Amino acid sequence: MPSRPLVIAHRGASGYRPEHTLAAYELAIEMGADFIEPDLVITRDGVLVARHENDITGTTDVIDRPEFRSRRKTKWIDGREVTGWFTEDFTLAEIKTLRARERLEFRDRQFNGMFEVPTFQEILELARRRNVGVYPETKFPSYLRSIGLPLEEPMVEALQAAGFQGRDAAVFLQSFERVSLKLLKTMTDLPRIQLLDDAAHTMATPEGLAEIATYADGIGPDKRLIVPAGPDGRLRPPTSLVEDAHRAGLLVHPWTFRSDPVFLAPDYEGDAVREIEQFLSLEVDGLFTDFPDLIAR
Ligand code: G3P
Ligand code: CA
Repeated sequence: MPSRPLVIAHRGASGYRPEHTLAAYELAIEMGADFIEPDLVITRDGVLVARHENDITGTTDVIDRPEFRSRRKTKWIDGREVTGWFTEDFTLAEIKTLRARERLEFRDRQFNGMFEVPTFQEILELARRRNVGVYPETKFPSYLRSIGLPLEEPMVEALQAAGFQGRDAAVFLQSFERVSLKLLKTMTDLPRIQLLDDAAHTMATPEGLAEIATYADGIGPDKRLIVPAGPDGRLRPPTSLVEDAHRAGLLVHPWTFRSDPVFLAPDYEGDAVREIEQFLSLEVDGLFTDFPDLIAR
């Protein structure tokens, strides 16, 4: 591990290439990232693939593929109605015929149509070949388990088979779902990170952090839990979350650091490095970023 905070390439170098493609992960490695971050979902035939959602409407060309028109569905997932095309309704062979697309209109779309949806296996092979860490996230794990497609077992098996084992492995397992992390604790001693969104205020208290410390090694908080913003978007003084988490023995890996003007608080006056420097001064242990070259310089 480097002496500076870890650079975690969020969905790969997703500021420069379509997210969750081998090209995005490879570029992140070339930029000096310490970890590549695959969000994991699963195919109908039980193969883990990297997508931020099981709904692949916005990140692939599936919408323009007439052979898959009838696969469009409406589902209830975690209390929300979602309409689209879902990985769990496709075999891996079918998923492999699709090509990735950039989801954000203000980012470079010249790579649309060029890259496949990668399997977790392919990502692990890349990580081994290029000597970089992996930071996989279970996405919708309770929902996917409820339809007979659990993520945790194949994820741990694939990591073990690739030689990622033990407390010192260059791996962090992450989830927003506490139940997924607690299950993982029974299956492996690989380090675990509890993700916290900006509504997770009760988990971000000293009491909540003490509970997290019983099953995880760190937290991955929305950066606004550390540097809050007011309703006008202007930043407020930092909270005590980093200090409190450290006191509970937890690592702190906030997300997500981006230089796109639309994502940057006005206080930084267009300079994304100023935001990173602020968080480094607050002594975080790692940062999730779409632009690894901003940090790993
Ligand atoms: O996993 C850290 C961060 O990626 C959580 O947010 O929605 O981008 O997966 P998300
Ligand atoms: Ca993630």
